[in-house]
Amino acid sequence: MNSAEALARQVMHRIDELSAISETPGILTRRYLTAEHRRANELVGHWMSGAGMDTWQDAAGNVIGRYDGAQGNAPALIIGSHLDTVVNAGKFDGMLGVLCGVACIQALFQTGRRLSYPIEVIGFADEEGARFGTTYLGSRAVTGQLDPSTFEQTDAAGISLRQALADFGLDADRICQAARRPDDILAFLELHIEQGPVLEVLGRPAGVVTAINGQTRLSVTITGEAGHAGTVPMSLRRDALAVAAEGVLAVERECDENDDVVGTVGILRVTPGAINVIPGDVTFTVDIRGKDDVDRRNVVAEVSQAVREAAEKRNCIAQFSAIHEAISAPCSERMIEIIERAIAAVGFKPGRMPSGAGHDAAAMAELCDVGMIFLRSEGGISHNPAERTSQEDIAIGINIMMKVLDEMEGY
Ligand code: GLV
Ligand code: MN
Ligand code: MN
Repeated sequence: MNSAEALARQVMHRIDELSAISETPGILTRRYLTAEHRRANELVGHWMSGAGMDTWQDAAGNVIGRYDGAQGNAPALIIGSHLDTVVNAGKFDGMLGVLCGVACIQALFQTGRRLSYPIEVIGFADEEGARFGTTYLGSRAVTGQLDPSTFEQTDAAGISLRQALADFGLDADRICQAARRPDDILAFLELHIEQGPVLEVLGRPAGVVTAINGQTRLSVTITGEAGHAGTVPMSLRRDALAVAAEGVLAVERECDENDDVVGTVGILRVTPGAINVIPGDVTFTVDIRGKDDVDRRNVVAEVSQAVREAAEKRNCIAQFSAIHEAISAPCSERMIEIIERAIAAVGFKPGRMPSGAGHDAAAMAELCDVGMIFLRSEGGISHNPAERTSQEDIAIGINIMMKVLDEMEGY
């Protein structure tokens, strides 16, 4: 009954149940500190309790379950991933890692087995940054690395993070209580869908992550002057959207010129946004990532310079504000080797790969050794409702995770 296949079937059902908790009916959107965040925590907390864990919600809104080990106060292995989503998300991103963690504990609990070390499973509250732009809020609170200026950042409705925490029943001034001590942590393990096509192309169900690429997120505001679309000659316009358009193309060009850096403009807001009005104000976001921090910063500098020049040419003002900055985070060599051995023990060829997507493991690397298992994504699709990982691959992932737990006895 407790075979990995049965657990994978249960994980699939749970993923469907969890994905029904959404801010918008018919699509999946679940952002930090919303009523749906609370409901997801309650449901996952209920599953954690059913797997024999003590459960609680921490000062940042992360849901945590703890399964004690055989030896008193040994440092805990933390297994985790996130429960928040992007807008119109797929249902495997983040959630799969949390539910596979719970499935492994359930397997231990139902056979009455305790490992020498305790295990905690964390459903992190904010990894995507879909509400406040800045990412890893849940995991950075656990590492004690949340910058207090973050609390003043606002969402699209103008609500500050401080206020949203209060509305949720939490207190920004007490979020430090979520921080954990490095001495209490053995390591951090995250299972996640690959979100890209590499494993599928290689014909492998799983891979091991070597490092999580660094990222820069900016908000750029261009101020020009709104005017009549029919009367203002082209040479006298201060068109903020024309500047932003050059910015979008600069992101594409500069990243194209650097093999290991990728860049995206995902949000563009045009004001006033009318067919017959010259755009007076535009705000757009820039997300630039790469494995090499120097290359990434060079691209950010080139893009910023291109936007400044485009603004100057049109007598507009360009202002940049940093939303998020994360350096490239390496996984621990020891954890990489353990995961490789686990993949081989389950009968597959292990392969190493970097992660282009951000993960809670990148934040947790500040606190302890981290390791990541990637599972194959069908069609390499993610951040899209079509995102899918098969039940067979999830069973393989659970088996790999169980092998890793065995090996961690000697860590
Ligand atoms: C999170 O999934 C990110 O990489 O943006
Ligand atoms: Mn994601
Ligand atoms: Mn994710």
